[in-house]
Amino acid sequence: MVNQTEIDKAVQVLREGGLVGMPTETVYGLAADASSPDSLRKIFAAKGRPEDHPLIVHVGAVNELSKWARDISEDALKLAHAMWPGPLTLILKKAPHVSDLVTGKQDTVGLRIPGHPVALALLKAFGGGLAAPSANRFGRISPTTADAVREELGGTVSLVLEGGQCDVGVESTIVDMSGEHPVILRPGMISATQIEEVLNKSLSVAEQQGSPRVSGSLESHYAPLTKTRLIESQNIINFLEKVSANELPVVVLTYSVPQQDFERVKWILMPSDAKGYAHDLYHVLRQVDKEHFSQILIEEVPLSSDWGAVRDRLQRASS
Ligand code: TXA
Ligand code: MG
Repeated sequence: MVNQTEIDKAVQVLREGGLVGMPTETVYGLAADASSPDSLRKIFAAKGRPEDHPLIVHVGAVNELSKWARDISEDALKLAHAMWPGPLTLILKKAPHVSDLVTGKQDTVGLRIPGHPVALALLKAFGGGLAAPSANRFGRISPTTADAVREELGGTVSLVLEGGQCDVGVESTIVDMSGEHPVILRPGMISATQIEEVLNKSLSVAEQQGSPRVSGSLESHYAPLTKTRLIESQNIINFLEKVSANELPVVVLTYSVPQQDFERVKWILMPSDAKGYAHDLYHVLRQVDKEHFSQILIEEVPLSSDWGAVRDRLQRASS
């Protein structure tokens, strides 16, 4: 972890308009001063991300919401108090001054308090909002370690704060609280059921959208470079028995099918619970992506709601 001197240095970089790699409990973010358009532009340049993709503003306390959002409903406040700091992003109506670079020219803004001590220390010392997308090149796998951030962004980010491997491992749940009914825009490890319990009402999950209000909603996203496909549990062994030499070597990720020996097949047994699986997923994909396999074969995961976030990321990684 980091000491106060490094936090102070990061604050200085941010005040001078620079970018800082910031650990959060979900994935590492690429942070910039959310009130400085010049700083925000650097995020898009570093990631190679189109400027119409909105950014999440990270804040240090619930009472800062009113600096960024207006017409904040009782329900939104309930969720904020129940889940923050934590892996939940609220979409709210934006306050007038919020930059188009943050909102993608929409009338809403995404906000969250991250549940990582280093992020919280940075936000406290900085004193303002930090816009931070995941610290990967556009469309690629989000980084879950400081090394992965450096690998993704190299020299474009001068300072990456060390925060260890991210606890959650996949991006926050995004819930749109700007309309009449709450809508989940991106599944995460905070489930629809948990949100429904707090709000005491049912909510809907967004259909695939045409415009990239949520870039993670693009069909192909969070993707390894190696060809990646999902395969049903009962077809794995059969596939490996019949696979032709020119399709090898392959790497297989299973959570329920026990490992067997095949030539030129690397077998990785993933955790069999959704939380453990999510924690490992990006880290494992990033590692195997470097190993020159001809394909990554991933066992389909359960359809139950606790696996929703993992299932969503696997579908995008393989599409
Ligand atoms: O866990 C996370 O949310 C991580 C960490 C770093 O906080 N951040 C993250 O940021 O995943 P990013 O930019 O990679 O993904 C944020 C998603 C994007 O798909 C963006 O389109 C969506 O949030 N988003 C941001 N503001 C929005 C808004 N006003 N309306 C709809 N979607 C929004
Ligand atoms: Mg991202």
